[in-house]
Amino acid sequence: MRRISPVLQQDGVDSDLIALIKTILAACREISFRVSQGELAGVLGSTLSENVQGETQKKLDVIANELLKEVILETGVVKAISSEEEDDIVAGNPRGRYLVTFDPLDGSSNTDINSLIGTIFSILPAPTDKEADDASMFLQPGTAQVAAGYVLYGPSTMLALTTGKGTRMYTLDKTYGGFLLTEDKVTLPKYTSEFAINMSNQRFWQAPMQNYIQDLLLGKEGPRGKNYNMRWIAAMVGDVHRILCRGGIFAYPADNKDANKPYKLRLMYEANPMSLLIEQAGGLSITGTERILEIQPADIHQRVAVILGSRHEVETCLAYHQKAL
Ligand code: AHG
Ligand code: MN
Ligand code: MN
Ligand code: MN
Repeated sequence: MRRISPVLQQDGVDSDLIALIKTILAACREISFRVSQGELAGVLGSTLSENVQGETQKKLDVIANELLKEVILETGVVKAISSEEEDDIVAGNPRGRYLVTFDPLDGSSNTDINSLIGTIFSILPAPTDKEADDASMFLQPGTAQVAAGYVLYGPSTMLALTTGKGTRMYTLDKTYGGFLLTEDKVTLPKYTSEFAINMSNQRFWQAPMQNYIQDLLLGKEGPRGKNYNMRWIAAMVGDVHRILCRGGIFAYPADNKDANKPYKLRLMYEANPMSLLIEQAGGLSITGTERILEIQPADIHQRVAVILGSRHEVETCLAYHQKAL
């Protein structure tokens, strides 16, 4: 089985970027180890603090954030980082060629139940004409990403990675300590009969999403003419992983449960990297009205509606939204 460096070299990825990706993975390996130790490592439970997203931080949110921040800034090739768990960007080397954004621990609510969690990251080119503490550097659409990936801490620790030449999957070999290529060309099936959505929000969605899901629930007897199955892992990283493995549609649409927070997922830390992985595997990722990767961000912590997965299913969901216009 192939190690990660030769695969990236073969794709023409430059050596600084390879080194940066490997550094991120070294931090993820450390997170993976602590996660697997669970209560024994004293990493479960919550802290007393709240993050900029208004969420109570889990101990693992903070530990994972600190680990990643430290090693990424030490590489010397990163101009600044931006994290779900940091109020502001953190400046690095003013001459660094890259910016890194990350969700250090996705699926926080799963930490204490020994269920799926992961780390999501995205790498952008650093503009040369801005200072390292200028947050506007990060306001680039997802199409600008030079790499995106996640590490899933499951029964095995897996990496999904793209540098724009398809999506590949690797599995952490804990005896050797590195990630080995286990799926060279992830390809999403075009059609699916599986959806992932938090159904408890149904009454808060807008009409197009209500109608779309209603028709899935009607199954064989409804307009879709087949029965659908539902899955919800409560960690985007787990749901997206399942979709990359066997297709499906995942949605966290707009809702009016909380007037100040119509969307849940974060554009820079979650939606953009996952959208690139999905598109590079032949899928689609939209808000309902536009392609996520083309959104011009206005704020590093911006949230967005997300509908992604198998191409035909996402296109069908899009048609429900367009019909409503
Ligand atoms: P995070 O743990 O990084 O804050 O993200 C959690 C997100 C995402 O992973 C998941 O899809 C969603 O929250 C789960 O939401 P529900 O609580 O509605 O299930
Ligand atoms: Mn969070
Ligand atoms: Mn998350
Ligand atoms: Mn998180």
